[in-house]
Amino acid sequence: MGIQITPSILNADFANLGAEVARIPSADMVHVDVMDNHFVPNLTFGPTMVEALARSTNIPLDAHLMIEDPDRHAPTYVEAGCASVTFHVEAARAPVRLAREIRAAGGRASMALRPATPVEPYEDLLPELDMLLLMTVEPGFGGQKFLDMVLPKLRRTRAMVERHGLQTLLQVDGGVSLETIERCAEAGADVFVAGSAVYSAADPDAMIAALREKGDAARA
Ligand code: DX5
Ligand code: ZN
Repeated sequence: MGIQITPSILNADFANLGAEVARIPSADMVHVDVMDNHFVPNLTFGPTMVEALARSTNIPLDAHLMIEDPDRHAPTYVEAGCASVTFHVEAARAPVRLAREIRAAGGRASMALRPATPVEPYEDLLPELDMLLLMTVEPGFGGQKFLDMVLPKLRRTRAMVERHGLQTLLQVDGGVSLETIERCAEAGADVFVAGSAVYSAADPDAMIAALREKGDAARA
């Protein structure tokens, strides 16, 4: 299977989200950044808007919850129509229970690590997860510079997934562009979030194709 490109709408026109999502028909998922102004210093949208977005498109939604108390709120995003829900381990009180609740609600369970959060303590948790997100910027804003320091962690995580024979997908988010996607693919990423790279392009869907081609070539 090839890599997946999941554009973030954080840099899209929030006044026209339905139309903005219609510009990326070849996206594997639409990455929806939910921010609560507490876990990160930025505020976006909540479950009501996400539900409206889910109704407006056939592309599955990939919610990235940058919020406090995901234990309480994450299952709501499955009910809102998200196919995949990512919570941050730094904010979760009971990540195993939470991952199981997301799966029980019918969603794919995913957990995110900030750039400075080590992966090793969570090795035994990987079978509970459909996807693990390694942030390649500090979460909160689009358009930040890609952090190369995360690449060794990505390689170690890929080795862990292989060692245990797991299906857990590895996602990268932050600063992914035509300049950086090959590094991430070579290090073992499967799923690539790209926000400003896609939505600052004149043709966002053509940018998805260009990113996919580079990523697939680097993975092969
Ligand atoms: C940042 C968000 C990202 C963001 C990525 O906290 O999680 O999804 O939209 O934007 P770019 O691709 O511009 O770094
Ligand atoms: Zn994100």
